Amino acid sequence: MDISFLLNGDSVVLRDISPTTTALDWLRETRGLTATKEGCNEGDCGACTVMVTDPDGTSRALNACILFLPQLDGRALRTVEGITGPDGALHPVQQAMIEHHGSQCGFCTPGFIAAMAVSHVNGETDHDTALAGNLCRCTGYAPIIRAAKAAEDAPVPDWMTSDRSFFLPEISAGGSSNQGFDEGGGKPPVGDTLQPRSTDALAIAYLANPEATLVAGATDVGLWVTKQMRDLGQVIFLNRCEDLNRITQDEDALSIGAGVTIARLIPLMDGAHPSFAAMLRRYGSAQVRAAATIGGNIANGSPIGDGPPALIALGATLHLRQGDTRRSMALEDFFLDYGKQDRRPGEFVESVTIPRQPDRLRCYKLSKRFDQDISAVCGCFNITVENGRVSAARIAFGGMAGTPKRAAAVEAALTGQPWDEATVTKAMQAFAQDYSPLSDMRASARYRLETAANMLRRYYLEDQGQRVAIMEVQP
Ligand SMILES: Cc1cc2nc3c(=O)[nH]c(=O)nc-3n(C[C@H](O)[C@H](O)[C@H](O)COP(=O)(O)OP(=O)(O)OC[C@H]3O[C@@H](n4cnc5c(N)ncnc54)[C@H](O)[C@@H]3O)c2cc1C
Ligand code: FES
Ligand code: FES
Repeated sequence: MDISFLLNGDSVVLRDISPTTTALDWLRETRGLTATKEGCNEGDCGACTVMVTDPDGTSRALNACILFLPQLDGRALRTVEGITGPDGALHPVQQAMIEHHGSQCGFCTPGFIAAMAVSHVNGETDHDTALAGNLCRCTGYAPIIRAAKAAEDAPVPDWMTSDRSFFLPEISAGGSSNQGFDEGGGKPPVGDTLQPRSTDALAIAYLANPEATLVAGATDVGLWVTKQMRDLGQVIFLNRCEDLNRITQDEDALSIGAGVTIARLIPLMDGAHPSFAAMLRRYGSAQVRAAATIGGNIANGSPIGDGPPALIALGATLHLRQGDTRRSMALEDFFLDYGKQDRRPGEFVESVTIPRQPDRLRCYKLSKRFDQDISAVCGCFNITVENGRVSAARIAFGGMAGTPKRAAAVEAALTGQPWDEATVTKAMQAFAQDYSPLSDMRASARYRLETAANMLRRYYLEDQGQRVAIMEVQP
């Protein structure tokens, strides 16, 4: 497989690469660019953060340890070595880190610098959020955040924007042996690594290679390689299918392509369902949200994914495609059992649609840490009250069963009843009919059942105008 991209401003063409080589390994072992560090090798610590600029000029902070080289094709990569100017001039965030004593042992510092440089070029000033995926064990965060703040108003150095002036598609390896084929080519390609350029081409390629592993953001698949040492065999990368990233809206529904990242979903949900957006801000870290796609979050069938419970509570429909055949289903019907989804060989998630509706959705994510933690329990409630009675209820949970699952008995206990304390208290007892959760490292079964039921009370109290979010009741 051949790919090309910009590395610290210089064009790089790589031939016959192994598609599951991570950007981190390649940078350190092949290019000798060792400033980018390996800490956890699973997307958790941010030591390997690099800056990636997309063809549309958007810059993102990504974890290089779970970023496969083909995901860089046609893009621009900057490491800390290229965040420093060509003549050795320091970037404003580097200068500010020195002045504000933001580094002690220095192991985490290149990752912080890369994440801060991305915020700087994008004009982002919520540094707590931007840096929540970067772990520092010795300095403490206050000086680092002070440094990020101090650099906010400094002009963006020329070398940081030069990547954007390249016509990036021009530097991609189209036409070479990376099989970045288009669907007009006739015979479906069969090969170890495919990188289709459209959803139509993906449909052909996957039908011809149904055993292949699809790779979208690689925030799951990356770990199969770096932690489980799995050989993925045939791989199909989705990152060049631009039309899989489409978002369309009309008066009835919002349609979200499977390739839309969690980071792009947040501003979309801010308007329609702000509680969903608030929960997504706690999904992984900025680096994870910039890579992970909603299609991957659904297709992996995880019982603790944060997207599916909210989407199920909103009554979302899933759209699947196998070759030219498309089918749709209520999202909850896709999850058959633990690790088992209703997906046929060669079939992929194309999009998900959310019906337009007044916003009544509330999402509650319980995890041990506020930031960058997987949910122990994730409860999403969408309850309609008319004339003091519950006229409709859609409630879905993650972390309570082997799949994301609706709370059918609780919904039945609420529907048609007066919307009051007595109904809520009674409905809370129905959780035991809906769920028999497991005990694991994140939570005990009892904790899960009790907190899930308490979330219904929380929804009720919030609906009555009480403050229920821990971040809001702090002094
Ligand atoms: C540090 C870290 C923190 C995380 N935090 C959270 C969190 O807070 N909440 C949460 O929900 N998840 C979290 N995750 C899990 C992960 O981000 C999600 O599961 C993610 O959405 C997967 O999407 P992806 O695009 O990265 O998928 P990939 O890793 O590329 O793929 C995941 C699976 O889906 C398949 N797939 C991908 N796209 C499609 C498609 N269009 N059609 C069919 N199959 C497809 C792949 O073949 C694979 O089986 C975290 C992960 C990491 C590493
Ligand atoms: S090494 Fe920890 S996130 Fe990459
Ligand atoms: S300075 Fe040592 S880990 Fe951050």
